[in-house]
Amino acid sequence: MDFNLSIFIESIPYLLKGAVVTLRLSVVSVFFGIILGLFLGLARISKNYFLRIPSTIYVEVIRGTPLLMQLLIIYYALPSFGINLGAITAAIVGLSLNSAAYTGEIFRSGIQSIEKGQMEAARSLGMTYFQAMRYVILPQAFRRILPPLTNEFVSMLKESSLASTLAVTELLRAGREIVAWKANVFSPFLGVTLIYLLMTLPLTRLSVWLEKRLKTGD
Ligand code: ARG
Repeated sequence: MDFNLSIFIESIPYLLKGAVVTLRLSVVSVFFGIILGLFLGLARISKNYFLRIPSTIYVEVIRGTPLLMQLLIIYYALPSFGINLGAITAAIVGLSLNSAAYTGEIFRSGIQSIEKGQMEAARSLGMTYFQAMRYVILPQAFRRILPPLTNEFVSMLKESSLASTLAVTELLRAGREIVAWKANVFSPFLGVTLIYLLMTLPLTRLSVWLEKRLKTGD
């Protein structure tokens, strides 16, 4: 085994820099993913054909193809259409567009889990569809949406490692660089593993806690 304690310790600061990039990629992508996802989720359950069909196709295409392929297309194929994105921007665009499809499904299922009578009651009180969504449905759906949204953030922390293929030095790539410099595989990758766990484990616990906590409030 090629574990070497001093290489392990030396690699930590560089890995932490990578972890900051990983965190940034994930936060920004989930942020845009949530905004776009909310519209996608609402469009998916809309009665309007022109909203429902395109949003459904979008979600199916994104979820039915590899994120790695989507990132490669955005970074390497868009330039031939005159769209040149830097590596970080391409990664953020790709991760956000991908996350939106998953978040859209989280919103859709969360909203659909609220009993139909709630909408009917709100409408019969004279609220418009949007008022009913805004003041009655979404606040209730939010409790059910929060735990899976936390899980989506955990997914993005891990999935953002695919940005390493676009030469973005996030956590995984930082580890691979040290592997190459030090000709030592295990020590940097042990650091990478521990840092990923340090970020994901508390969030996974948070999601479980939220789920329990919010359920009792129903
Ligand atoms: N790695 C899988 C893929 O390539 C899953 C992507 C999950 N994305 C997400 N936003 N949760 O498609």
